[in-house]
Amino acid sequence: MLTLSGVSASYGSVPAISDVSIDVGEGEAVGLLGANGAGKSTILRAISGLVRLTSGTITFSETSVGSLPPYRVTDLGIAHVPEGRQVFPEMTVQENLEIGAYVPRAKAERSRTLELVFSIFPVLAERRKQLAGTMSGGEQQMLAVGRGLMLKPRLLMLDEPSLGLAPVMVDVTFQKIQEIHAMGTAILLVEQNVSRALTLVQRAYVLESGKVIMRGTSVELANNKQVQSAYLGI
Ligand SMILES: Nc1ncnc2c1ncn2[C@@H]1O[C@H](COP(=O)(O)OP(=O)(O)OP(=O)(O)O)[C@@H](O)[C@H]1O
Ligand SMILES: [Mg+2]
Repeated sequence: MLTLSGVSASYGSVPAISDVSIDVGEGEAVGLLGANGAGKSTILRAISGLVRLTSGTITFSETSVGSLPPYRVTDLGIAHVPEGRQVFPEMTVQENLEIGAYVPRAKAERSRTLELVFSIFPVLAERRKQLAGTMSGGEQQMLAVGRGLMLKPRLLMLDEPSLGLAPVMVDVTFQKIQEIHAMGTAILLVEQNVSRALTLVQRAYVLESGKVIMRGTSVELANNKQVQSAYLGI
């Protein structure tokens, strides 16, 4: 469904990712793992059209997305939940969700999708009139994921959804992502919590200094000595 082939991108003259080739199948859950600065967020931004490619191609369901503006990528069915949640603090929970459905395809079904999001995240229904900025970190993460779902995505890209959350909220977050995946949505998950990520995804890529250094199934990676010592503390 999604294929990156030899993708490189840089910020100014500083290269951030180079020659990255990854793919995500229809309805699959795939992980992007790696240390700080490895280039994980840059890959999601490249897919979303937020950073220019210096080389390589990105296709989504046979459409070339490598040079499309972000709203066009979104309208194809790719939702990007960015690092650090980035909800609109002065707007209510419901307004944040409604604004999520900003592309034509999603707008037409906005009220129905809102009910679906409320059924997955009852806390958002209870707090629909609360200002987003007054929600707890975990609640804001739910809101950020809910806002992504308002696009009715075929592919949901999540950038470190568990970052900064208490252990119990990490559990809830992963459980919700699992539910969304079970509903048929493909997932591209960026995580530093490698052990948890490997319980959720089927396959993953390991990045180092902007390059893919390893790829495999979750079982293969969990049993890999290099992954164990670098990311699993074994
Ligand atoms: N806006 C920017 N301007 C300049 N350089 C940037 C910018 N954003 C990222 N970089 C650089 O690009 C490289 C990859 O960064 P990226 O944010 O993709 O890493 P990451 O794997 O997501 O890291 P983290 O786990 O810390 O979020 C890093 O060297 C980083 O310093
Ligand atoms: Mg990042």
